[in-house]
Amino acid sequence: MDKQYSKLLPDGYAAFENQVAGHNSKDGRSPTGILKSSDGYVLKPITKQPQSDTEIGFYESITSNEKFICFRDFVPAYKGTTILNIQGLEINFLKLQDITKGYIKPCVMDVKIGSQTWDPNATASKRKAEEEKYRVSKKEFGFCIPGYQVHCLSDGSFKKMGKEEGRTLDKHSLPLALKKFFNTDFARSGELIDLFLERLGAILNMWLKQTVVHIYSSSLLFAYDAHHLELSITTKVIGNIRSCINVMMIDFAHVVPANNTLDSNYIAGLKNLIKLLEDIRSGK
Ligand SMILES: Nc1ncnc2c1ncn2[C@@H]1O[C@H](COP(=O)(O)OP(=O)(O)OP(=O)(O)O)[C@@H](O)[C@H]1O
Ligand SMILES: [Mg+2]
Repeated sequence: MDKQYSKLLPDGYAAFENQVAGHNSKDGRSPTGILKSSDGYVLKPITKQPQSDTEIGFYESITSNEKFICFRDFVPAYKGTTILNIQGLEINFLKLQDITKGYIKPCVMDVKIGSQTWDPNATASKRKAEEEKYRVSKKEFGFCIPGYQVHCLSDGSFKKMGKEEGRTLDKHSLPLALKKFFNTDFARSGELIDLFLERLGAILNMWLKQTVVHIYSSSLLFAYDAHHLELSITTKVIGNIRSCINVMMIDFAHVVPANNTLDSNYIAGLKNLIKLLEDIRSGK
């Protein structure tokens, strides 16, 4: 979506420039991509049923059902749904906390967790289609990277990688993409990775306990402000990197009851991601 498109939106709304993956108006599968509101939230269009109801139901359960409280610290704050009139069309949106809010040089990466991205209710054709997508990285790592954007601090460039490149990532190129995303050739990137690892450890602990739901095709959304990282070097102030990083679980279109079992698909992918980041941190 471009600036031209934003002119067609109601006052106070614009295309969300930090969207790195998922459906958008260009692929024809969504009337709009993710939008942002002037009060600082992101709006995700409700496009498909039953997937959208599943996602709304999950966010609502987190606020109202004690069994789901364990997810609360790890998902964006949910502010209900809202209807916008866009060129005569009434479109319903989920309103969520923007995890890149206030970032000056936002670096954002969408990591889809699990080697199985189809839910147990999927049709045979949906299952086949999902199995083909990101086949190499899902098999190798138990996760895939549909998109990221990074402000490269070594040369001042900006890189945005979409799903075409994401689908090519393999055993060798995926770790390189992660290194690029975390600006590993820049000082203090080690501390940055440590902070993400700390947070991923907390998310893994939660998954090792909860037996309420299994979640397919959901992502961990990583975000940090490269400006803050840069500033912490140039001003020689020990900047608080912690305040400029975030990682949250997003995209809950495929949530099914766990029947008191752990989600081994999600857990395996998350463990592999943690291991890979630990290897990168230790210079491997
Ligand atoms: N809370 C958020 N804060 C910041 N960015 C977000 C947030 N939620 C989503 N995004 C951005 O939008 C992208 C797409 O989001 P999401 O995965 O929820 O939608 P989707 O894949 O299009 O949905 P679906 O697969 O259910 O149709 C993410 O990769 C991210 O860049
Ligand atoms: Mg998605």
